[in-house]
Amino acid sequence: MKKGLFIVLEGPDRCGKSTQAALLKSWLEELGCEVVVTREPGGTYLSEKIRRILLDPKSNIEPMTELFLYETSRIKHTLEKIIPALKAGKVIISDRYTLSTTAYQGYGRGLDLKTVETLNRIATLDLKPDLTIVFDIPDRVFAQREHLRNGRDRIEREPDIFRRRVNRAYKLLARRPGITRIDAGRPVGTIQADIRARVQKILSAKK
Ligand code: TYD
Repeated sequence: MKKGLFIVLEGPDRCGKSTQAALLKSWLEELGCEVVVTREPGGTYLSEKIRRILLDPKSNIEPMTELFLYETSRIKHTLEKIIPALKAGKVIISDRYTLSTTAYQGYGRGLDLKTVETLNRIATLDLKPDLTIVFDIPDRVFAQREHLRNGRDRIEREPDIFRRRVNRAYKLLARRPGITRIDAGRPVGTIQADIRARVQKILSAKK
């Protein structure tokens, strides 16, 4: 069976992941890779429907219901999109994956971390990314972006205290073994060069 590469980009809201995912995709394509960029919640027809429910400011969702909705979106995404892409030897770049649930529902909402980790394992069929990059935003930049925030979706409308808890959680999670932390307070090109160097290392090791 051919085996692709599974890259996950993680971090607080508006940390610049999507811009970096697009830049990484073009570079990998220049190298001759087939690349799929996807996101969570979302990535499939059903998961995008769940995304709409989750992000709708009119949805009234309890923390545990929220957890299960994110995990439901994830299992469909994993089965229908991620695993088939990896089997076909593609590179899949996902904007968020399990670490988001640990940061937002675990640390942010205060749900039991063991429960969150168990559901993460079930919803991914124990599939682990080859590379998880956490975008670490310096406090100074975080404060500036908070100031500019316009609170579009349900999660972005959460109070500052929730957002600060999530930001702190990412700083903690970035130190976990197997997680790659990058300083997201630098210019776009510098961050991209950093990401490419990390991906290049894995590509070389896979050859
Ligand atoms: P999105 O617009 O994709 O945020 P961003 O562009 O910042 O990545 O919205 C996804 C929101 O859902 C984001 O606020 C993070 C949140 N989220 C969770 O709370 N738990 C999860 O498991 C995932 C995947 C996302």
